[in-house]
Amino acid sequence: MSNYHIKHLEEYFKVYRKSVREPEVFWEEIAEEHFTWYKRWDTILSWDFSKPEVKWYEGAQLNITENCIDRHLLTKGNKTAILFEPNNPKEEAQHITYNQLHEQVNKFANVLKSQGIKKGDRVCIYLPMIPELAVSVLACARIGAIHSVVFAGFSATALSTRINDSDCKMVITSDGSYRGNKTIDLKGIVDEGLKDCPSVNTVLVAKRIHSEINMKEGRDLWLQPLLDEASSECTPEIMDAEDPLFILYTSGSTGKPKGMVHTTAGYMVYTAYTFKNVFNYREDDIYWCTADIGWITGHSYIVYGPLANGATTVMFEGVPSYPDFGRFWEIVEKHKINQFYTAPTAIRALAKEKLEFVDRYDLSSLKVLGSVGEPINEEAWHWYNDNVGKRKSPIVDTWWQTETGGVMITPLPYVTPTIPTYASLPFPGIQPTLMDENGEEIKENQIDGRLCIKFPWPSMARTIWGNHQRYKETYFSAYPNKYFTGDGALRNTVGYYRITGRVDDVIIVSGHNLGTAPIEDAINEHPAVAESAIVGFPHDIKGNALYGYVILKEVGETRKHESLRKEINQIITEHIGPIAKLDKIQFTNGLPKTRSGKIMRRILRKISCKDISNLGDTSTLLNPEVVQEIIDNSI
Ligand code: WTA
Repeated sequence: MSNYHIKHLEEYFKVYRKSVREPEVFWEEIAEEHFTWYKRWDTILSWDFSKPEVKWYEGAQLNITENCIDRHLLTKGNKTAILFEPNNPKEEAQHITYNQLHEQVNKFANVLKSQGIKKGDRVCIYLPMIPELAVSVLACARIGAIHSVVFAGFSATALSTRINDSDCKMVITSDGSYRGNKTIDLKGIVDEGLKDCPSVNTVLVAKRIHSEINMKEGRDLWLQPLLDEASSECTPEIMDAEDPLFILYTSGSTGKPKGMVHTTAGYMVYTAYTFKNVFNYREDDIYWCTADIGWITGHSYIVYGPLANGATTVMFEGVPSYPDFGRFWEIVEKHKINQFYTAPTAIRALAKEKLEFVDRYDLSSLKVLGSVGEPINEEAWHWYNDNVGKRKSPIVDTWWQTETGGVMITPLPYVTPTIPTYASLPFPGIQPTLMDENGEEIKENQIDGRLCIKFPWPSMARTIWGNHQRYKETYFSAYPNKYFTGDGALRNTVGYYRITGRVDDVIIVSGHNLGTAPIEDAINEHPAVAESAIVGFPHDIKGNALYGYVILKEVGETRKHESLRKEINQIITEHIGPIAKLDKIQFTNGLPKTRSGKIMRRILRKISCKDISNLGDTSTLLNPEVVQEIIDNSI
């Protein structure tokens, strides 16, 4: 018998030991007992990190929507699968039962088919947090189309880059979206983005804000009339274990975003098993993750993980500050939320407001609090623990990545004793290790190292869409035979891990990964800009904010710097989205460079953090004199 639900610490250690000693037996038992397969696997695992190639449950056949929907119908048909809470609290919440979800997904799947979408085709989904988003994701999975959800805060350029990278045939969007007291013209962004996307034949448009929009003849179709016509029967496509399920883009330290490819069986098994244990989910619980489905957290822990467990999962359309800063807690009271999962940046923003916004509501239903996306600082942890959890709901500080598909290092609630700022212990099946600068494994404790994973786990991304070489270089080349996470970490004397942050050129702003290179590329397109460098600096709410050092082409540029700053942020908004705007922009005559011409970001980082006491050795720089100039003019 597998220990699907781990209930105490001793059991965790026992399960963990088994997962390391006999990984194949371990993952076989879990797969066998908790999922529906059309055909059993021939091999549990085959792997070679030097290629890299990883295969789980090879030979097996399944459909993930059968597991997330159909198999619950007999016993839970009338249970709420998705609880939709609209942006406006005056609009009624929608309870979509498993029966209804089944019907909606089937209809949507038939619409996709009628528009010529087949197994293996890529479909881009650019929708706000409305039920159609979850339904379209599942509809793709039902027919074996590969979904590529693009967060609806990304700009037209970012959208078209992602569509073209994976040659999507279709885009699913809406006439617009609500965000607090604003509306956003999503369809307008799609129209702009599609100017240069030859692979897209069809755009399906859901109605949300009922605005007047342009519908392009022969390309754009309203979704609802097609759904009305569609049959509610759609036999799930039979998928192989390693067939791609979705592509999700994440920023890298260089150039283009990376289309991480997740496959079917391993992803399903791992997200389901982690969901059950990380949130201690019990049959009648109401679970709410505040992320957007446009990020991996939403894929794994709003859609697939919860539904594979027959859970009730909340989808919230709005923002934490509308109509006021009590909105999250109002929703917790209203729907009697049991598990609440959010990001440290949201906690910090809410902690700045009056406590009254929290105290006004009855939060006694809460049993587990989660945190994800960036390190949670001690102050935020205590605020969350004291005021939201009332010191009775354990906080699970879950460390993971788009690439890992599911939670990797985390406490288990009511099982693992928590220490603020420590993500604590590896989930069963996960074998973390820390590497030193010489590429050796760090055996001692309390030493900073680079976090790697030594053994495959079922939900790891298998490749980067269209660029396996980049996948290998980014994740499997720094340390032979290990997956390198890009994060730094520390292990304490009892073996708990504390994630210290990125060690590459990715900066996490408000929980969003931003690569410095794409932002610099955008800025450099400004006609007045010669060169730029972006670094992160600590920010009270965002965790990190962006600091840009910009060299102008003409020294003594006549235009006012203030208007240039605006234009630079405008260019970033157009190329990436408002999330990547710079908080500070310093114009400079030079950037500190090594003799090989590499920008020494370490120095810029220190200056932007106002930590200039120890800049290290600057004598090896090509142009040491610029350092003082940059310090003198820093903002
Ligand atoms: C960071 C989000 C500290 C980390 C699921 C990682 C964290 C990156 C934590 C992945 C945490 C995520 N503590 N840092 N609990 N969770 N991170 O791909 O740097 O959006 O590499 O996936 O976020 O971000 P991504």
